[in-house]
Amino acid sequence: MKKTVFTLFALCVMLMTVHAATPQRLVVDAAAKGHPIANTMYGLFFEDINYAADGGLYAELVKNRSFDFDHPTLGWRLFGNVELCNDGPFERNPNYMRLRYSGHRDIHTGLENEGFFGIALKAGDEYRFSLWARSHGEAEQTLSLNIVSDDYTLENTVIKHIPVRITSSEWRKYEVVFTVPATIRDGRLRLILEQPDPKQYSTTTGVDVEHISLFPVDTYRGEKNGLRKDLAEALAALKPGIFRFPGGCIIEGTTLETRYQWKNSVGPVENRPVNQNRWHYTFRHRLFPDYYQSYGLGFYEFFCFAEQIGAKPLPVVSCGLACQFQNDKTAHCSMEELQTYIDDALDLIEFANGDPTTTWGKVRAEMGHPEPFNLKYLGIGNEQWGEEFIVRFEPFLQAVREKHPEIQVVGTSGPSASGERFDYLWQEMHRLEVDLVDEHYYAPETFFTENADRYDKYPRTGPKVFAGEYACHGANGKKFNHFNASLLEAAFMTGLERNADIVRMATFAPLLAHAEGWQWRPDLIWFDNLRMMRSTSYYVQQLYATNRGTRSLPITLNGVAAIGKEGQNGLYASAVMDEKAGCYIVKVANLAEEAQPIEIDFEGLKRNVRFAPTAERITLSADDPMAENTLDNPTRIVPRSEWIPSNGNSITTTLTGRSFTVLKINLQ
Ligand code: AHR
Repeated sequence: MKKTVFTLFALCVMLMTVHAATPQRLVVDAAAKGHPIANTMYGLFFEDINYAADGGLYAELVKNRSFDFDHPTLGWRLFGNVELCNDGPFERNPNYMRLRYSGHRDIHTGLENEGFFGIALKAGDEYRFSLWARSHGEAEQTLSLNIVSDDYTLENTVIKHIPVRITSSEWRKYEVVFTVPATIRDGRLRLILEQPDPKQYSTTTGVDVEHISLFPVDTYRGEKNGLRKDLAEALAALKPGIFRFPGGCIIEGTTLETRYQWKNSVGPVENRPVNQNRWHYTFRHRLFPDYYQSYGLGFYEFFCFAEQIGAKPLPVVSCGLACQFQNDKTAHCSMEELQTYIDDALDLIEFANGDPTTTWGKVRAEMGHPEPFNLKYLGIGNEQWGEEFIVRFEPFLQAVREKHPEIQVVGTSGPSASGERFDYLWQEMHRLEVDLVDEHYYAPETFFTENADRYDKYPRTGPKVFAGEYACHGANGKKFNHFNASLLEAAFMTGLERNADIVRMATFAPLLAHAEGWQWRPDLIWFDNLRMMRSTSYYVQQLYATNRGTRSLPITLNGVAAIGKEGQNGLYASAVMDEKAGCYIVKVANLAEEAQPIEIDFEGLKRNVRFAPTAERITLSADDPMAENTLDNPTRIVPRSEWIPSNGNSITTTLTGRSFTVLKINLQ
């Protein structure tokens, strides 16, 4: 009896070993023509949600710098004799503060700004303070600029003190560059009107101040009015081919009045009227009444950034519908009013591409970019639905087509990835022959395992697909940005790549989130005022984008596409050829817990083609599927690169359990 049990056990172990040792055979059809992969395939979708712009990518450190929020003192503490005035030098941001002597020796007049969740400054780094000011009563006045910290461990909580001489009774801009001796994360900017001898001065003497600003000097590419360097560099490192902006729901606005109007976001920053950010009140459990849009990061800056990072710009404009989730049909523009929205879109094309002699081309040129931005794509509407959308979209589309046939128009399939609204919209998009349709899916794990073949079933004619917003949301809403979600995204994305003939663009969403001010998660990059963390989804996006290839090739497992079906043991794969670099790239997500040996054969290779002796294997894996990168441990899970031997015309390797692997096979 004992002997039989032992023999059975030994047999099982042997069988398991044989199973584990038998590699799964993936076959790349190297002779196939394949599908060209658009260079817009992987990109960025930027929306000012989670303090992504003000308080995030836009490097301004002062909140409500021009006192034009609905509550003009939001973000500020006032001391002494301060009065709000509204006939300032900037027509579209008319508010400013009047600082006057208090008339008392011991009462000082001043202002203090709290920044975005505090003002963080780094020891030794340079900062540029600026303000617009004019003196009143005496030709010269002095403002004392103080950087204050709450950190009682510092020798002095006022870590910097700089006098700023206001020398004119006319509005002028003053600028001071300084460094701080200590790193602080919770700082405030305090401005005090110096009053040497109160008897000499009347309470009508003082300084008027407006547009009070503080930027790091070391912004992305060192630009003034620039971007936070670490965040911008992380975005650039994703090597995006497309850059969609400025949203998302903020395009629509909570109401039409608060929609994103691109014309308000260009020209001198001082004169860009602030707008509410619709995310401040969207979620009852995450209210941020101080969340506004200064538009310091506006359309000109978006176009410049797209150009700098090598991405094609894809601006999206309002189609006259206020957020449909939050409004009924009465909130939308009338058909008579629609022309204004259409004109805004046509003007935007002129702003981007027009000659500097045109009205809007001139604005662009005056801002510093006489050359066109080469705009090729335009999104009309965000997550719209129903007939109320189509009746507006159709004339909108016609007007753009008529005046700018060179522009490819991106329509929408609404907020969900299936259902009645979705089907109706796709049907309409086909009828109207739009160029691309934007699809959104924030979906649970099962969606990503079950939809790797989603686009295999799409018609091959008609509009192309822009997977404009997607992310795997942990089941039961409990877990965010954990490794397993990223792995499922990687598995799903093999289907985007396999269907590169119709999927032309794909962007994860949302992009950025301030750890202290988020409204939506998961997000690709998290940050606080001093630190930044790339999520594991970031690395998946980066691995796809930096290994995009130029042509997608069929790859099969047991004769069918590798999409984790029966017998495929959780393997999802795609293959591309990079004709420029002269290499094949195979991406495989292994959703099985165990390690799996695989053999990749390339059928139909030309006789003289040999692989280089070693191939690069890049693996993204985690010891725990629920693990994540955090601001405290940002590099817990990062891709690892190794070199493995090639067999001349095939590759054998073992995939780590629960991993995403990219194999780069150079030709000799
Ligand atoms: O990305 C967050 C939001 O999700 C976007 O604003 C909107 O388009 C979608 O509902």
